[in-house]
Amino acid sequence: MIKMTGISKSFSSNQVLKNVQFSLGKGEIHALMGENGAGKSTLMKIMAGIYSRDSGTVEVKGEPVEFTSPKQAEEAGISVIHQELNILPYLSIAENLFLGREETFGRTGILKTKEMEKKTQKILADLGLDIDPASPASTLSVGKQQIVEIAKALSVDAEVIIMDEPTAALTDREIDTLFATIRQLQKQGVSFIYISHRMEEIFSLCDRITILRDGEYVGERKISETSFEEIVQMMVGRELGERFPERKSAIGEVKLAVKGLSRKDCFENVSFELRKGEILSIAGLMGAGRTEVVQSLFGYKKLDGGTIEFDGLPIKIDSPKKAKEIGIGYVTEDRKSEGLIVDFTVEENVSMTNFSAISKNGLISKKKERTLYDDMVKRLGIRTSGPEQSAKSLSGGNQQKVVIAKWLGIEPELLILDEPTRGVDVGAKKEIYSIINELAERGVAILMISSELPEVIGMADRVLVMHEGKVTADLPKNEMTQERIMHFATGGGNIAVKEK
Ligand SMILES: Nc1ncnc2c1ncn2[C@@H]1O[C@H](COP(=O)(O)OP(=O)(O)OP(=O)(O)O)[C@@H](O)[C@H]1O
Ligand SMILES: [Mg+2]
Repeated sequence: MIKMTGISKSFSSNQVLKNVQFSLGKGEIHALMGENGAGKSTLMKIMAGIYSRDSGTVEVKGEPVEFTSPKQAEEAGISVIHQELNILPYLSIAENLFLGREETFGRTGILKTKEMEKKTQKILADLGLDIDPASPASTLSVGKQQIVEIAKALSVDAEVIIMDEPTAALTDREIDTLFATIRQLQKQGVSFIYISHRMEEIFSLCDRITILRDGEYVGERKISETSFEEIVQMMVGRELGERFPERKSAIGEVKLAVKGLSRKDCFENVSFELRKGEILSIAGLMGAGRTEVVQSLFGYKKLDGGTIEFDGLPIKIDSPKKAKEIGIGYVTEDRKSEGLIVDFTVEENVSMTNFSAISKNGLISKKKERTLYDDMVKRLGIRTSGPEQSAKSLSGGNQQKVVIAKWLGIEPELLILDEPTRGVDVGAKKEIYSIINELAERGVAILMISSELPEVIGMADRVLVMHEGKVTADLPKNEMTQERIMHFATGGGNIAVKEK
């Protein structure tokens, strides 16, 4: 279906692809892996006519092509789900789905709104999403927006579908539905290029894998003939060792105790305790109320009932300002709109929350700012062309690393992390885990939401499982298994629930 050879690409003086090759067979699901900034998205954008290449050839079904716009690629049967969501918040869901190819009555230009909404509803229902297609896209969570993106690509009858981290904001149930859809289309002869940092997905879904490192082609393997270790080795060029670093934190006294927290139509009667030096994870499916609970703890959303104690004292958290004052930090799941100022440089983003580290007598020291930047870049392995690069042009995973660099300097007493490793490569994930562990060892209480169960099990001391707004289990480390967590997350009973 596709053959790319000798592809090179530079952004000004920064060469990001060097003589890369890639080929895709008909009906194949081909994984593309590599560390953050390895060049995966760039290669796919060249394929899709969004970026031009400096050299090399691209063939589609044996014919050389020169796409100069995404429209041309689409006409050749290639459809892309981009890593960064392209949903327009003020348009309805149906309008988003049919953007640029609206259906009209003849040549009158009058939109067939009802019909497009009906089609949208059907496509989304197939993906397990029951929402009103006429409502504005801004009402959707990040995860649901991602499903709309996927629906958009599926609705154009493509022969090749490129998925650039389609599951980053999805939970296991949605992923299952997506995979079932992919497999069904594969049977009909559709080919897929699949980019993900989740190793489990690659092994369960894909037939072949191509690996990039630092903009270079490293190799290609059949999935049935390779292993987790080999892929990691090819990606990072070294042994990585244990996936989850060891932690030696002493769990201290109760930092946060919440009782009977409720918010109408979001969650009810949520109670738990979180101790100093402890990592508590909240697991659950999308819509279980996890994000809403932590948003209430941070003062973003009002509570209808319940009490909060911080260091043993009752407290009301009615604004994020108040939350920060008492020492709560919050890393949101939506890095694009809340985590980063995309038009600022990487250096500015890092220093923004770290004024005490970079200022002297109220003045910013350029030298200190650069030292902080250098330190963060080194620690997190952030790949930039320099401190002046705009946050917007960083690769997706590197943007996430910058968000993390921002809260590292704050050193809160309680840190809330919502999907901290979304879209981050294996090496950097381990680095982030080490940082979380380090904070816990220093006595910070950590509340982590994660949809990746291996991560929950590898990192958390306890897991709180939620289903439809209620806590269904509170499991200690030795009782956590993927099956058990899924059981409670899907509303299962019977296994003795540990009452709090
Ligand atoms: N528009 C751009 N302008 C300047 N540099 C860019 C631009 N787009 C990408 N880059 C740079 O190209 C390199 C490769 O980025 P790319 O987005 O292809 O990485 P990736 O493999 O998709 O990473 P990730 O896993 O984080 O998504 C990065 O160093 C990035 O900073
Ligand atoms: Mg990318």
